[in-house]
Amino acid sequence: MSASLQDRLSLIFGEAFAAAGFATDLGAVFESSRDDVAYQCNGAMAAAGALKKQGQKANPRDIAHGIVMALSKHELIDSLQIAGPGFINITPTIEAINTRAGEIADDPRTGASAPDRDTIVIDYGGANVAKPMHVGHLRSAVIGESLKRLLRFRGNTVIGDVHLGDWGLQMGHLITELEDEQPDLPYFDAAKTDDYPEDSPVTMDDLSRLYPAASNKAKTDAARLERSRAATAELQTGRAGYRALLEHFISVSIAALKQGYGALGVEFDLWKGEAAVDPLIAGMIEGFKAKGITEQDDGALIIRVETEADKKPVPPVFLVSRSGAVQYHTTDLATLLDRKNEIDPDLILYVVDQRQALHFEQVFRAAVMAGMYGPEQMQHLGFGTMNGNDGTPFKTRDGGVLRLDDLLTLMNDAAKKRLAEAGIGTEFDAAERDEIARKVGLAALKFADLQNQRLTNYIFDPERFTAFEGKTGPYLLYAAVRIKSILRKATALGVSAGEVKAAEPAETALVLALDGFDRALAGAASKYSPHILCDHIYRLAQSFSRFYADCPILQDGVAPDVQASRLALAQTTLRQLELGLDILGIAVPERM
Ligand code: ARG
Repeated sequence: MSASLQDRLSLIFGEAFAAAGFATDLGAVFESSRDDVAYQCNGAMAAAGALKKQGQKANPRDIAHGIVMALSKHELIDSLQIAGPGFINITPTIEAINTRAGEIADDPRTGASAPDRDTIVIDYGGANVAKPMHVGHLRSAVIGESLKRLLRFRGNTVIGDVHLGDWGLQMGHLITELEDEQPDLPYFDAAKTDDYPEDSPVTMDDLSRLYPAASNKAKTDAARLERSRAATAELQTGRAGYRALLEHFISVSIAALKQGYGALGVEFDLWKGEAAVDPLIAGMIEGFKAKGITEQDDGALIIRVETEADKKPVPPVFLVSRSGAVQYHTTDLATLLDRKNEIDPDLILYVVDQRQALHFEQVFRAAVMAGMYGPEQMQHLGFGTMNGNDGTPFKTRDGGVLRLDDLLTLMNDAAKKRLAEAGIGTEFDAAERDEIARKVGLAALKFADLQNQRLTNYIFDPERFTAFEGKTGPYLLYAAVRIKSILRKATALGVSAGEVKAAEPAETALVLALDGFDRALAGAASKYSPHILCDHIYRLAQSFSRFYADCPILQDGVAPDVQASRLALAQTTLRQLELGLDILGIAVPERM
């Protein structure tokens, strides 16, 4: 795919700066904030600054003048003006704009390049077996899924791993509570060592009942808590009946989670978890000991990871506690080892709540000390919380964690209400209306999440998220569906798309918006920030709106070649919108 117009302009400006004896990167061209100017280059000020540093006299306007003289006859350039202290305002030729429009229209990826070739593991989702998901898990799923799609689209090989929490105290709670309910199950017979039944003794409903029951009792009953702890330890040291139960708990949970994540449009390549790497732990710890990086500390096995440069204390990594239990640090290190053995990735990204930042800092340092990975190969991509109106992480009315399916129902209801208010879809049958509401609800939720900088907190507001005006998911769906309907009408009228010949300001503005796709993708990918892509898609939809208001397509009296050109622009816009939304994990209805 050939480069964007903006990149080509940056290239020729870079060459002009280089020819004048300055650094090439001073030629970087930016979109102008002014409506009447497409691009600008601000390198002259920095060039003058560089000269002054060397003790030479320099005037940025003079430098800008030299660049303008060198480029004013270039085939991409219509006109150049120097403004203020030495900004260069750039207007490309209409030929350059239309050539680029043609390239984008002919490209199945509408101008997006795929330059990257890394193998990347994304650790996201992170649901826990039997524990209800909270809104932090929701954000991880939504952000992680879009990063997976984005990095894949950029050409990388990306493997998404849900990394289930299936090795902690909640397992001991489940085991002991089930034992109290059904003591005669063969899993509790310590003398028995194999041949457990194939069918699960529990359903997902059982698990959702057993876990809170045990955990509530354990809150006030120390002996009950101790039983769960002991069962967890026995499970981890390999008691056969407990292991067999764990397998059932995990597969029952995975089946339920696949449904829940599936409803959210989130798919994982790997359904591994903490328990899966248990067989690696003993050998890994031996290796750490042989490397001399571990220490005994008050009966626990630790790795000290603090450095001189730390401004805040960084506590040691806990491999094995005094009671012999492996820790969250340990399973994450073993998972790093497993990924090294099985995948050998260039990069591992952890899309996990920012509140776990210290945990990952500790784990990464230990992995580097152990020689498993270089420091740049592991990155924690934290995110803020989705809050309620009280400014604390969103909870249900009774103060509990929100279940994922309840959240989806909430969004679905909000979307239905909106659609009814707006009178959208009244002519369709109930099944199609429901499907539209589902998509609108999901788009509302995901876009509201992804359009924020990852680390900011935001307030859960289904009313605002589902609005059809403003920077929302439903607005974007509506924009895409409107283009689909224009294209259907065009087909019915026998009008087809042709060569793009932009002439009106709203047309060239739309082409320049389309031209920004690759840059937005590159920015979003390099910063792991889907909001950069959200900004682009929103801008594209707005540019289309303006174009459609100013430039009729199917009305009587529009010349055939203008009609064909505008239809090509509409088609290309739709394709780019759908590509972008798909990368965000947002599906568009056929009509609404
Ligand atoms: N299960 C964890 C939790 O609920 C999240 C797991 C994140 N991934 C990881 N490799 N630690 O907090």
